[in-house]
Amino acid sequence: MKILAIESSCDETAAAVVEDGRKLHSNVIVSQIDIHAMYGGVVPEVAARSHIEVINPVINQALTDANMAWDDIDAIAVTYAPGLIGSLLVGTLAVRTLAVIHNKPLYPIHHVEAHVYANFITEQVDSLSLTLPYAQPEFPMLALIVSGGHSQLVLFRDHGDYELLGQTQDDAVGEAFDKVAKILGLSYPGGPSITKAALDGDAFKYTLPKAKLADPYNFSFSGLKTAVLRAVQHDVGVDFTFPSHELPARVTDVQRADFAASFQRIAIETLVDKAERAYRDYSPKSVVIAGGVAANQELRRQLSERLPLAIEYAPMQLCTDNAAMIGALAYYYAQKVDPTDPSDLEVIPSLSMTKTAWATA
Ligand code: KG4
Ligand code: ZN
Repeated sequence: MKILAIESSCDETAAAVVEDGRKLHSNVIVSQIDIHAMYGGVVPEVAARSHIEVINPVINQALTDANMAWDDIDAIAVTYAPGLIGSLLVGTLAVRTLAVIHNKPLYPIHHVEAHVYANFITEQVDSLSLTLPYAQPEFPMLALIVSGGHSQLVLFRDHGDYELLGQTQDDAVGEAFDKVAKILGLSYPGGPSITKAALDGDAFKYTLPKAKLADPYNFSFSGLKTAVLRAVQHDVGVDFTFPSHELPARVTDVQRADFAASFQRIAIETLVDKAERAYRDYSPKSVVIAGGVAANQELRRQLSERLPLAIEYAPMQLCTDNAAMIGALAYYYAQKVDPTDPSDLEVIPSLSMTKTAWATA
């Protein structure tokens, strides 16, 4: 079954063709990062307008790259939740029209759940040359989902049969990377720029707190972000009322690197502490990481040090937002649920992964 998938929930416009939930035929991603970097974060209205400009060319490119015409496509999938409302609307309106014109079944897909399915893509056409996992993960599977909007631990017993073990009570971990980058005067998105700055830093220079929560699987990153802010204000020699936007000009390169490294160490340690605890409690057969922060090398290093099983990683291009993951998950949906009537498809900007997929589909 060949699925054409579309993703437009935040600041990437993407389309991909995926066969049988595992084989990637094309993977087109147009990122708006350069546009939003000027503002230090995603501007929703700008994001929606940019999606409108490129969505049709991106879809056509995905078909061309896959060497396919509409007749070769068996179904269409699209991200309908969660995300920025304007961005989600562009993708869903495009596929509602395409599903009617080309008479294809349509599957609405949950973006966060789909991030996990980047790990199920194990085959590709030669022209793509991504470094893919050798095998699909086995169930029960523990998934650490860490992105700009989500930090959660989910136990999958099978496709669509999952339980949310814990989630962030405030900021997502990627959001903390983005906010700390802003405090330090590093560019957006914060994940890659903090990782780069941290290379020259002392990860033990600053003592930063790990949030202690009643539930061992829940996360909280807003205190860590504030602790970095206070420590930077303290170190540059001014009081706690000093405006944060004036801090970057006063921080030295050495301080910036040490703060980046110390923050990254604690943020990642927090994720790995919880993943290790869940691994001990549930003894899953596989562990996967998903979402933009899964691209973080320090996270991969710490996990391989502390978990007793070998983890296979999705390539970086499939960790951050993409449509391949949407097409992969849609295949498993298509085995279990009826397609959605295009005229009934609506977007849901906030929808967490609390219920099993089949129950919410
Ligand atoms: O999954 P994603 O592309 O979009 C969302 O659905 O949120 O994740 C984007 C997030 C951003 O917060 C970005 O700073 C973070 O992922 N990120 C990273 C890295 N690359 C991207 N965080 C830490 N280390 C990285 N290498
Ligand atoms: Zn995402």
